[in-house]
Order: sequence, then structure tokens, then C-alpha cells
Amino acid sequence: MCDCEHADHPPTPPIPPRRRALIWMGTGITAVGAALAALPVLGFLLAPARLRARDEWVDLGPVSTFPAGTTRLATYRNPVRRPWDGQTDTIPCWVRHIEGHRFQVFAINCTHLGCPVRWFEGSRLFMCPCHGGVYYEDGSRASGPPPRGLYEYEHRVVDDHLHIHAGRLPTLQESA
Ligand code: FES
Repeated sequence: MCDCEHADHPPTPPIPPRRRALIWMGTGITAVGAALAALPVLGFLLAPARLRARDEWVDLGPVSTFPAGTTRLATYRNPVRRPWDGQTDTIPCWVRHIEGHRFQVFAINCTHLGCPVRWFEGSRLFMCPCHGGVYYEDGSRASGPPPRGLYEYEHRVVDDHLHIHAGRLPTLQESA
């Protein structure tokens, strides 16, 4: 006569160590894969925080740093920087102080292919060293290959300090 109780439920054999190691390895690889797949989702969730940084107003300094009637080079630190950016997180721009609280702040890059333009006080022109693009002091295009005027930053004066909307870099839609 058979022992029916044991025939229905045979004892589970112990898992051999090699199979157990393979199970752990498989679980680990799956976990790493899941973490990698989650990275874009995490980026999507954190994007609003980065966008907030883009909306930062950056202080370029006291208005008195930019005497009326002059155009001066200023620099600011990119609010959307990363630790490995090094010196590239320091961005130059041209500040034209017209009078009182009237300013224009230009991106330094030529609107042709992006070379840095230089200001010439004598001729009161911005000139591009790459292909001879020229701009008037109000940033509008004077001659050469640039298709439009210099890009302008939004700016405002707060407590006698000039601020620019720095995280939002000027685009083709915002030419002077
Ligand atoms: Fe300035 Fe070409 S990049 S004229």
C-alpha cells in the first residue's frame, strides 16, 4: 500500500547553489535594467525644476557700472549650469546703457554663425571677425551676411541693479 500523503506532495528539493547564484544574478540585471529604464521618467519629473532655473533673473551689477551713453561687456553665470561646465558657465553679453533705466543687452554671438562680435567705440558699431558682419549700436543689422540684428535679452532694473532673464537665451524670434 502506498503512502498517498507523500505521493501527492513530494518534498521540494533544495536549490543548488549555482542555480541560486543565477537567480540572484538575473534579479540584479533586471533591477539595473529597470533603474536605467526609469531614468528618462525621472528626468521628465525633474524637468519643471530645471525650467524654473531657466526662468531666473540674473544680476549684472549696479546701474552705475554702465555709464549712460556707453556699451560695455558684462558677464554672468549661466543659471542652468552643471558642475562640469567649468569656465563655459560664464557667459558674456554686451550692455548698452542708453539713459536712465533704458538699456539694451545683447547676446555676444553673431546671428550669422555665432562668432563673438566686438564693440568698436570709435565707429559705434559691433563687428564680427569671422565674415565681416556689422551691426549698429542698437543691435540692428548694418551689413554683411548676418540675416538679422543681434539677439536681445529681456532685462529690468531692480533696486538700481540691472537684471537679465539669463536662463532663457535669445532665439531667432527675438532679434533686435
Ligand atoms: Fe559673423 Fe559670419 S559669423 S558674419
